[in-house]
This record gives sequence, structure tokens and C-alpha cells, in this order.
Amino acid sequence: MRAVLSSLVLHVHAPKVRPASLRLRATWALGLISVVLLGLLTMTGIYLMFYYFPHPDAAWRSMKDLAFVVPFGRVTRNLHRWTAHGMVALVTLHMIRVYLTGGYKRPREANWVAGVALGVLTLALSFTGYLLPWDQLAYWAVTVGANMAAAVPWLGQPLRLLLLGDMSVGEAALLRFYVLHCVVLPVAIFGLLAFHLFRVRKDGGLVVGQHAAAQIGTTTESSKLIPAWPHLIYRELVVAGLTTAAFLALALLLDAPLEPQADPTRTPNPAKAPWYFLGIQELAHSSAFWGGVFVPAATVLGLMVLPYLDTSEQGLGLYYPRQRRVAIHIFLAGVAFFVGVTVIGTWFRGPAWQWMWWPY
Ligand code: HEM
Repeated sequence: MRAVLSSLVLHVHAPKVRPASLRLRATWALGLISVVLLGLLTMTGIYLMFYYFPHPDAAWRSMKDLAFVVPFGRVTRNLHRWTAHGMVALVTLHMIRVYLTGGYKRPREANWVAGVALGVLTLALSFTGYLLPWDQLAYWAVTVGANMAAAVPWLGQPLRLLLLGDMSVGEAALLRFYVLHCVVLPVAIFGLLAFHLFRVRKDGGLVVGQHAAAQIGTTTESSKLIPAWPHLIYRELVVAGLTTAAFLALALLLDAPLEPQADPTRTPNPAKAPWYFLGIQELAHSSAFWGGVFVPAATVLGLMVLPYLDTSEQGLGLYYPRQRRVAIHIFLAGVAFFVGVTVIGTWFRGPAWQWMWWPY
């Protein structure tokens, strides 16, 4: 058993790694924390599935049962909710780290593209899970999200029908979101993640480790390899333990919200999408097509083709190299723009999407 286990562990990683890739500032452990959160989401999700019924008459009651009847139901639901939000944030930060250190460039282009797809899948997983509690927040956030999809030219209406299985969010939509959330998207994310981690190893380890001469000083020191066990795996266990402890503490202290049961006849004003789509909702408020469809689609496509357009190999493995400052400033301006519109959509829009001077 020990041989099988260590062989499995050693196949996920290279048996030997570069010391520079073990330093915290090489990755800030953001990819690893995302993996840990996905693990926590899967474990808590399986437990929740035992008690959840994907039907409008029963879904909201399942949430109440989890809170008051099911052993550890409340803390499991809280943990699932907070790790889901955490994963969206951590995956975004991981992408920013990879961009800043030039980790998308040759030979890592394919892994970057797989990463972009993982980011989209993470958002889709979170969005499909949003509907399942079947409360007012869930119902109207998904209604807003589905309406945004309807703004796609020509394909918008069929796309919304495919997603909802009806003209509005109802029984069919809940079942579709449930199957997507519990089967289709997890299978896709685990398959792609296996490829992603395989590529990290295949591409020669992390970009920061590979270009460590610039980070540490001497080529001899940086090229010396050390065994993954215990050096890397010990660090990974510590990060996994700390991440689990932090999210468990949050789940014990803070309850996931549950609004009154979904009521299709009572529209909240304003009806807001989940927070990670509020930037897009803010842009869509100005123009449904340009803000709600063009900007997000161009962002995803732009990220996918980026490694094939920006092919210079200077400054790799460094956070703010002189040679890449223009590219980094453009990227950070894009990030700041998205953060800005998300903050506006979240706190500075009130009834009828009116501007609010104080956080709403
Ligand atoms: C489910 C989401 C994701 C998970 C669980 C994940 C996990 C990881 C892990 C564990 C690593 C190695 C350690 C590290 O760099 O922190 C890694 C590396 C990498 N990831 Fe991700 N990742 C995800 C999403 C993304 C996204 C959204 C992108 C980019 C758009 C991306 C691009 C990359 C690249 C290019 C590498 C290699 C970086 C290098 O060589 O330094 N990943 N990922």
C-alpha cells in the first residue's frame, strides 16, 4: 500500500523539484489552494447530495433540514458555500500570478489555454450551484444571468431555452442546473485538472523554478534538484491543513444566507446576478450586447490567444521584469477595470439600477 501510495504521489509531481519553485513567492500556493478548495467542495457536495431534492417543492425545505435536522448539515452547507466563493477568487488570483510571471509563454501555451477553460468551468460550477437553494436570491440571480445569455445575437433565445428548459426559471431549470452542477461540470473540471497538473510536470515544472537563476542568483544553485518527498509534499500538506482550518473556522462562524423561498411573482429590486457576474451586469446595463456578451467573450478569447500573440521570452519567472512592464500594465489595467465595475455593481447600484453614493 505504501509503495502504491508513494508511486501515486510521485506521479502527480516530478520525483525531484527545483528549490526555487518551493519558495512561497513562486506561486503564493494559489494553484494548490484552488485544488484543496475543489477537494473540500467535492466532499461537502457529496454529503449535501444525500439530503437535497432538486424540485421546486422540496429544494428550499432541504436547506432548512440541513440547517436544523441533518447532523453537521449547517456547517457542511456553510463550508460548501464559502469554499465555492473562495475558489472563484483564488482561481482568479492564480491566473494573475501566472500572467505576471510569464507562465503562459512557450512551452506552457496549452496549459494556459486549459487554465482559461478551468476558470470558465469554475464560474459555471458556481453559477449552477447558485440556483439549488431555491430561495429568492438564487432564483433572481439566475434569472438575471440567463437573461444576460439571451443577449447573444441569434443564438441568445435558443441558448436560454437550452439552459432553462423553459421560458423562465422553473422545475426544468432546477433539474438541468442540478445535473450540470453535480455530474457534467465536476467530471469536466476533474478531467481538465488532471491534464493541467500533468502539463505542469511535462512543461518542466513551474516557470519561476525553471528561470530560477534570475530569482536566486546562481545557475548552479538553482539547477540543483531536491526530492519532492518530503520537501514539496510536506509544504503541500501544511497549505492543505491551513486552508481547511481557515475555511472550517469561517463555516463555523458565518452562516450561508438563505432568503425566503423563491417566488416568481415577487421580483426584488434590484435583482442582482452572483457577485462575480456583477461587473458584467454593470456593463450590460449600458449595452446588453457590448457589455453583456462582447466584453466577456472577447476577454475569454483574448486570454486564450494571448500566448500565441505575446511570444517574447524575456523576463520569464519574474514578477515585474523591466522587459514586460508595458504588457503587465495593460493586463493590470484590465484587472482593475473588472474589479472596478464589479465593485460598482455590488455596492453602488440600488433599485432600478440607479447609482447610489453610499454602499447599497
Ligand atoms: C480549477 C482551477 C485551477 C486549478 C485547481 C489550478 C491548479 C494549478 C496548480 C496546482 C498549478 C501548479 C502550482 C501553481 O502554479 O500554483 C498550476 C499551474 C498553472 N496554472 Fe493553474 N489551476 C487552475 C486554473 C488556472 C487558470 C484559470 C489559469 C490561467 C488562465 C491557469 C494556468 C496555469 C499555468 C500556465 C500553470 C503553470 C504555471 C507555471 O509554470 O508557473 N490555471 N495550476
